[in-house]
Amino acid sequence: MSLLFSQTTLGPLTLQNRMVMSPMARNRAIGNVPNELMAEYYSQRATAGLIITEGTSPSPNGLGYSRMPGIFSAAQIEGWKRVTAAVHAQGGKIFMQLMHCGRVAHPLNLPAGARVLAPSAIAAAGDMYTDAEGMKQNAMPQAMTEADIKATIEEYAQAAKNAIAAGFDGVELHGANGYLIEQFIRPTSNQRTDRYGGPIENRARFVLEVVDAVIKAIGKEKTGIRLSPFGVFNDMPPYDAMEADYTWLAQQLDARGPVYIHLVDHSSMGAPPVPDSMKAKFRTTFRGTLILSGGYDAVRAERDLAACKGELIAFGRPFLANPDLVARLKSGAPLNAPDFGTFYTPGAKGYTDYPALG
Ligand SMILES: Cc1cc2nc3c(=O)[nH]c(=O)nc-3n(C[C@H](O)[C@H](O)[C@H](O)COP(=O)(O)O)c2cc1C
Repeated sequence: MSLLFSQTTLGPLTLQNRMVMSPMARNRAIGNVPNELMAEYYSQRATAGLIITEGTSPSPNGLGYSRMPGIFSAAQIEGWKRVTAAVHAQGGKIFMQLMHCGRVAHPLNLPAGARVLAPSAIAAAGDMYTDAEGMKQNAMPQAMTEADIKATIEEYAQAAKNAIAAGFDGVELHGANGYLIEQFIRPTSNQRTDRYGGPIENRARFVLEVVDAVIKAIGKEKTGIRLSPFGVFNDMPPYDAMEADYTWLAQQLDARGPVYIHLVDHSSMGAPPVPDSMKAKFRTTFRGTLILSGGYDAVRAERDLAACKGELIAFGRPFLANPDLVARLKSGAPLNAPDFGTFYTPGAKGYTDYPALG
């Protein structure tokens, strides 16, 4: 009896199986507006129990990458309606990942008047692709004022309402991988001396205020969050209090009751592994649904579900390259290999043209 392919629930939702499609930036949103091609891509993958969209910006300031979609304008809401309708028509469920890039950004990717913001004026090491001028260093961000922080939290809440208006079943706050929320959590990127910086109680204030605002806007059963304890992506070095900080954060989240926590483990992509002790602490501290991700195949997924390490298993690159991943894993059919060269390029190639089994 397979757990992976059995029906389950997520808050009030019934999911057709325990397979989640991981959030994956695909940079096909020309002008930051979702389009028909994106609706086709997501609908091809609607047999997942739950789809989590690519990172989508709650604000013009959060659009760090070229062709990243947003959810702050009427045109974006209309565009996303086509995506949610296409997925729901096939019995799928879909959450939107709300991702504010913060300092992982370049002004060339931002619309006129938008600003590169971060907790502190410390640039992230690394380069960023721009359509206009190719690779550029990540920009030096402006340190957010208290007014900027308040406005940004309101943007998240409004974006969550917009996502529901666009037909999404909920939103996932991107608190992982070095973007704005994690920039506040980590002491290297957050060197503020006000109530948003210093001890973890202060560095976590931003994420918890965003969680509170989004829960108030759309309800806790529609609010999930992705976190990457021990993640190093986007210039986020390890530090001594990592496990203690994230354990404290798990407790705070449990008290607020978002519907899920989605844990990132990028060891399959060459990152340092997340210690089992950390995952176990999330398991015991957080009483909602736990989504595990990173480097999963069907065998490991069944094993971890059977061991109650989490309730749902997210697959990233396998879903990218296999629109019918659920059917393939069920039947043990071979998988298409992902083509890295077309992960982020505009157009249908390497996006909607991966073949499904006949
Ligand atoms: C092309 C691509 C884009 C990604 N974009 C995002 C993103 O927008 N938000 C996010 O949280 N993770 C993103 N990730 C990370 C994936 O969600 C996932 O954690 C990672 O691919 C590891 O899972 P896998 O081994 O199943 O692929 C991305 C990964 C890939 C390959």
